[in-house]
Amino acid sequence: MTRYKIAVLPGDGVGKEVIEAAMMVLDEVGFKADYRYGDVGWEFWKKEGNPLPERTIKLLKETDACLFGAITSKPKDEAAKELSPELQGKGYVYYSPIVAIRQLFQLYANMRPCRAFPGNPLNYRDDIDVVVFRENTEGLYSGVEFHPVPGELRETLERLHPKMEAFKEIPSEDMAITLRIITRRGAERIIRKAFSYAREMGRKKVTVVEKPNVLRETSGLMVRIAREIHRREFSDIELEEANIDAMAMWLVKNPERYEVLVTSNLFGDVISDLAAQLVGGLGFASAANMGDDYGVFEPTHGSAPKYAGLYKVNPVATILASKLMLDYLGEKEMAGRIESAVAEVIREGRVRTYDMGGDASTLDMAKAIAEKL
Ligand code: IPM
Ligand code: MG
Repeated sequence: MTRYKIAVLPGDGVGKEVIEAAMMVLDEVGFKADYRYGDVGWEFWKKEGNPLPERTIKLLKETDACLFGAITSKPKDEAAKELSPELQGKGYVYYSPIVAIRQLFQLYANMRPCRAFPGNPLNYRDDIDVVVFRENTEGLYSGVEFHPVPGELRETLERLHPKMEAFKEIPSEDMAITLRIITRRGAERIIRKAFSYAREMGRKKVTVVEKPNVLRETSGLMVRIAREIHRREFSDIELEEANIDAMAMWLVKNPERYEVLVTSNLFGDVISDLAAQLVGGLGFASAANMGDDYGVFEPTHGSAPKYAGLYKVNPVATILASKLMLDYLGEKEMAGRIESAVAEVIREGRVRTYDMGGDASTLDMAKAIAEKL
């Protein structure tokens, strides 16, 4: 077996303990890797004014893939207050390291499988198996934002768009703008990824989830490109179109009807949390951030600071993230064994973390899964 170089970024909060749990499982399944731990998260924001130090970016560049825990992220003013005193007032601005990594490494596909494991008391229904493909580099997460809105920008917008008339009386400091940038490159690559996955996994339908009736240009472009790619390259698979609001309702009403969803960045952020809750919540939701030559694998949940150090949270999301990493590396056999081991522990129901109504710790759960291997 190839000896992979894997970057491990536990982050902060419960990130450290869920990574410890996932490592137990990776060791047990026989995955041999050269693990390199790196610095990321709140601690480095406070100490260095940078939650994603250059040395960590270098580390990612030198490895084959990355396993990521969780990080605390706060709105910019709250974050600024927590900087160490000597760094205060020097113009450091907090940003989300995971969003930065996704963009820096062009990890354009965020794949979030939401599968109901039989026997999970938290399943909304047992017949759910949806995979969300979220565009991961642009859309409302492009990071192009203004507050206050510069006069130059306002003048240009007023000249170019009659709808700006409605805001004429509003002072610039009372207005904020976030751009939702959708590009053909971004739309094509995520849509192609969703269809390719559907074909590879023998799924029959891909649903593009947007809002083209109102967001005529950005959602419109996504949907037009989905139709194009479908017609030209994937006519063996069904393409369905749904609006994001209706999708939120349909996922609650008839979740079993959906197989693969593909959507833009913020819609995907929201709908993937909804889909995760249908199969037990964030304790079961894993995510693969994939580009053409790198991948970062993480639980969808955050750092849950109030549980930090208690070894209470469910590590299944991170264990499944490590399974996605093995899939990405082409180690399908080991990946399959991890998923089966998780399924078996859940089906037996003897070991359950607090979210499942039990009192097993993070590491008890990891041990139970490791034993099945
Ligand atoms: C996610 C998270 C992140 C996001 C946060 C932590 C920046 O919610 O991965 O879904 O918004 O993408
Ligand atoms: Mg999210």
